[in-house]
Amino acid sequence: MMEKSNQYPDFGLTPEQRREAVLGHYYEYPGMDGEGGEIWCYTDAYAYPPGATVRLQVSSTAASFSLEIVRDGATEQSVLKRDGLAARWQETPDQCSVIGCGWETSFEFKVEENWPSGAYRVTLRAEGSDGTPIHCHHLFIVRPIAGRKPGCVLHVAATGSWTSYNTWGGSNHYQGITGPNRDQYATTVSIERPFCRGFVVLPADAPRVPLEIYAPMAVAPRYPHMEWAYANGYSKKYASSGWASYDSHFFRWAERQGYAVDLVSQHELHFNPEILDGYDCVVFVGHDEYWTWEMRDAVDTYVERGGRAARFAGNFMWQTRLEDGGKRQVCYKYRSRAEDPAYRSADPTRTSGSWEAAEIGRPGAATFGLNATRGLYVGWGGCAPRGARGFPVYRPEHWAFAGTGIYYGDILGAEGHAFGYEVDGLDYIIRGGLPEPAEDSGAPKGLEILALGMSSLKEESADIPADDQFLSDADAKFVAETLIGDNGPATVERIKRGSGMIVNFPRGKGEVFHAGSCEWVAALKRGDAMVERVTANVLNHYLNR
Ligand SMILES: [Fe+2]
Repeated sequence: MMEKSNQYPDFGLTPEQRREAVLGHYYEYPGMDGEGGEIWCYTDAYAYPPGATVRLQVSSTAASFSLEIVRDGATEQSVLKRDGLAARWQETPDQCSVIGCGWETSFEFKVEENWPSGAYRVTLRAEGSDGTPIHCHHLFIVRPIAGRKPGCVLHVAATGSWTSYNTWGGSNHYQGITGPNRDQYATTVSIERPFCRGFVVLPADAPRVPLEIYAPMAVAPRYPHMEWAYANGYSKKYASSGWASYDSHFFRWAERQGYAVDLVSQHELHFNPEILDGYDCVVFVGHDEYWTWEMRDAVDTYVERGGRAARFAGNFMWQTRLEDGGKRQVCYKYRSRAEDPAYRSADPTRTSGSWEAAEIGRPGAATFGLNATRGLYVGWGGCAPRGARGFPVYRPEHWAFAGTGIYYGDILGAEGHAFGYEVDGLDYIIRGGLPEPAEDSGAPKGLEILALGMSSLKEESADIPADDQFLSDADAKFVAETLIGDNGPATVERIKRGSGMIVNFPRGKGEVFHAGSCEWVAALKRGDAMVERVTANVLNHYLNR
């Protein structure tokens, strides 16, 4: 399963290209494929109820295209095929990532009443300008009708992160073509644009973020996923977010195991929180970094009333706001105190920054038991590149581990590499060989730490020239400023060591289980039996099976 190699994979790039792959800004934009021609599309929403009309916006150099829609679950089921649909090239505004593409609808269709809730992949095919085939993918969610669903899991796709990482059009919440010099990340991003390449479909051999090799001694870390993206024409962020890298692995696994699973986007948490009430167990997976205040209210209320939330996900980091009925997402992030109007408003709690910032005052731990700022990176760059690949277990007797045969000191999920590349943690102490939340950690009452690994907020290495650092000390400085109020070296030194945990706690009449790692789903994908068993234990317990 895990390669024992200590050789970085070679995707045929020169050293200059490898540097550009990691530090450069490359993205999808209309016209990028030149003579070959292109086809792109998006839908007018992330999720639709049965009976709704889906509007498909298409821009293509070809005059006609074919369409196929496939439900992507335990099996692939084709639900709609059409040929000879008309398309045309549509003008796209320069700042489409921010304001949306604004394309006219090319084709619309109805979500049939017998299409089960789930993820529906849209594939468009056409003839390129030079006669070679061109294609594109998109994805929409069919959400369930509200109502009591005993025995059914509700999976909430991490669509806030999909929006944030989408590189299409040039700007996302990481890099961008906004600002006077067209070099800043966007503080507002639109869902009205295609998904970047690799968010919907990926080849099986696409590298994940955490290093699969044992990094050689005293050599600067490399980034196989970004090198592969650059060499193969995929989004720089394909491995950071999206259905293909994250949510799909849980959804398909759960259906193959025989679980009934309904799927919603985070928009349902925000706009239709009552949808949660029909379920005994709600699940969050993957890289799940961006939430609104209202989404958290939905989960908190659900758990208080007796709901069970299982989060197999990492990086609960930023508060966002939604605008225009959810079509646009706002997150000022590192610039929130300087630029976000909410910070200077009468109610600064809605500032789009870190959940732990004083002006927001709602640490992630209050909902899911862990904070992103007490965790962070492991398994890539100069942040624990040779770190634990699973969760070191401290309380093997917990019900979640039943039947695994795991022991104190074992590493849960090492085989499937479940621990990385961003993890969530808490400040802690270890006494008598058992970790507990530190007194001022903000952990909910009754929280038990079942497993605990190390992570880092800061890339520090004598082997990586400062100019070549990808992660650098930017996050550590931001967290120091956010938590303590200054970002000097002494403060950075205090906060730079993070953790990543599995925790469990009661809340009101309900309960929360949280394995705080983006890569939990990678271990499901790789068939790590122990991770599969723990996941099933949690689902069964919460579904009253
Ligand atoms: Fe993240």
